[in-house]
Amino acid sequence: MSKRTHISTTVNGDPVEFLSDPGVTLLDALRDELQLTGAKEGCGSGDCGACSVMLDGRLVCSCLVLAVEAEDRRIETIEGMAQGGELHPLQQKFLEHAALQCGFCTPGLLVASKALLDQNPDPTETEVRYWLAGNLCRCTGYDKIIRAVMDAAAELRQARRVA
Ligand code: FES
Ligand code: FES
Repeated sequence: MSKRTHISTTVNGDPVEFLSDPGVTLLDALRDELQLTGAKEGCGSGDCGACSVMLDGRLVCSCLVLAVEAEDRRIETIEGMAQGGELHPLQQKFLEHAALQCGFCTPGLLVASKALLDQNPDPTETEVRYWLAGNLCRCTGYDKIIRAVMDAAAELRQARRVA
């Protein structure tokens, strides 16, 4: 029987601890040990982006990260995006633009889009399309997603000007 490793990490600002077998991915640990099932496994090989999370401020595919690598790191998932019962503007704009159908890709797209807007608040459409090229969607045809991200970016810029 393999020896489980004790992991201490931070998820969405909260300290968490769990046990993990060697070789278990961060994606599986989030879903199976921490019941954070927003990140999805589309491919398990880094090709679809459905499992996107932030690790120490960097966008990663959690299917390509081992759970043991989360020790003493800072993880942000889709579950931490809405704050105080309020949807993040990206989430709101995805709803308004009907930028989802089955929703399987949506958590990954939202996490990836937030990562873009955090570092580039005023991206061009081309920049949004390139940034999200690693997030596959089988349903929407992408245009509504791109419009939702551009609209959310504009709203966030406006909110910053007012603040
Ligand atoms: S499940 Fe991780 S990139 Fe597809
Ligand atoms: S909404 Fe179904 S995969 Fe994107």
